[in-house]
Amino acid sequence: MSYKIERLDHQGRGITYINGKIAFVKDTLPGEEIELKIIKENSKLIEAEPTSFLKESQLRVKELCPYYKECGGCNLLHMSYEEQIKYKQSKIVDIMKKYADINSEVIKQIVPCDRQFHYRNKVTLKVKEKLGYFKEKTYELIPIEKCLLVNDKINEIIKILNGYTNLSNIKEVVIKSFTDKETMLIIYLQEDEINANLLNYLSKHVDNIIVYDNNKKIVKRIGKGNIIARLREKQFKIGANSFFQVNMDQTLKIYDKIAEYLSKNEDSTVLDLYCGVGSIGLYSVSNYTKLIGVEIVPEAIENAKTNAELNSMGNTKFLVGDTKTILMHSNYKADTIIVDPPRAGLDKSVIEDIKKINPNMLIYLSCDPITLARDLKLLSDLYDVEELIPYDMFPNTHHVETLVKLTKK
Ligand SMILES: C[S@@+](CC[C@H](N)C(=O)[O-])C[C@H]1O[C@@H](n2cnc3c(N)ncnc32)[C@H](O)[C@@H]1O
Repeated sequence: MSYKIERLDHQGRGITYINGKIAFVKDTLPGEEIELKIIKENSKLIEAEPTSFLKESQLRVKELCPYYKECGGCNLLHMSYEEQIKYKQSKIVDIMKKYADINSEVIKQIVPCDRQFHYRNKVTLKVKEKLGYFKEKTYELIPIEKCLLVNDKINEIIKILNGYTNLSNIKEVVIKSFTDKETMLIIYLQEDEINANLLNYLSKHVDNIIVYDNNKKIVKRIGKGNIIARLREKQFKIGANSFFQVNMDQTLKIYDKIAEYLSKNEDSTVLDLYCGVGSIGLYSVSNYTKLIGVEIVPEAIENAKTNAELNSMGNTKFLVGDTKTILMHSNYKADTIIVDPPRAGLDKSVIEDIKKINPNMLIYLSCDPITLARDLKLLSDLYDVEELIPYDMFPNTHHVETLVKLTKK
């Protein structure tokens, strides 16, 4: 039986219908005719994968990664980059219209990434004797020798780890590298201690190694425990547990845009909520501006305080805690608020507190367009969306980063 793919959903999966029921088919493109295998079915929907292609789309390209079919990380790799960009643009327009009633006129053209591959400065890999990714929605390990998405320095560390014969007491590793000078390897053990020979071997190749035991306690540390990321003349120290944006090229474009938004009100107060290591505020406000950052991870706030000194930004204050609690128990005044929350978006009480602070401008950076649209709708009684810019921060995946400038009605 053959099925025709009608369109793509917001996760990049093809949509067809089986006996009238909607079916989501991974790795397919609109117009393609396929035979398929059902993976999952419930009363409302079907999930399937193609078993053969009776008609292929002309927009299909050869996937360059040997792990692509199983790993699931690059779920748009079968689509040309030009098509990925068109798809992401129409997805944002669609979501904003459907969930926030936002007019497409304020939505700018998506900013593509100059590099389709090797853009990531951080990777998390699983270990089950070998190193790799878990097959999508399973705990089955797909061993890898390199990854098309990560930068060369990270691929070097992957090769070094693969060069050791026995990784069996490791559960997970995180590798970070922001410049071609420094690397950080974070190791999560199955047990309490790391094999001394393995540590000795790794320390010859990696500047910074931090080892956590099974109870998430640090049991070994080699190097200074943080590495530097550079954005133009600014530098940021980043610790093992601190967040930093994964794509430096796109981050720079986004932060430049935020700096442009902020350049008009220099001697004001800016609240940078969900600030990580303080990078957005420290990059984009002027020295005259009072900057207050809020972040839940203590190490990130320690980094933010150091980063303020490193970048000679005196008029700053960084607070550790849950944004919701901090806003609830303070009465900050601010001309501008920047928010960059995790995928879950803003808590309703945070939205209410932002409205009480009543800033002239609200800058919202989001990695999830659905929660962004929900929050924009909740803000729409007091704020207009002046400009919404999608950025392709994560090429070859369905994810999109979105920057929104809102102004008071
Ligand atoms: C998408 S990151 C943005 C970080 C930073 N703005 C940047 O550009 O690098 C979201 C940040 O929010 C922090 N976070 C998560 N939940 C939080 C909460 N409830 N209150 C404060 N910070 C939170 C995370 O630790 C993370 O650093």
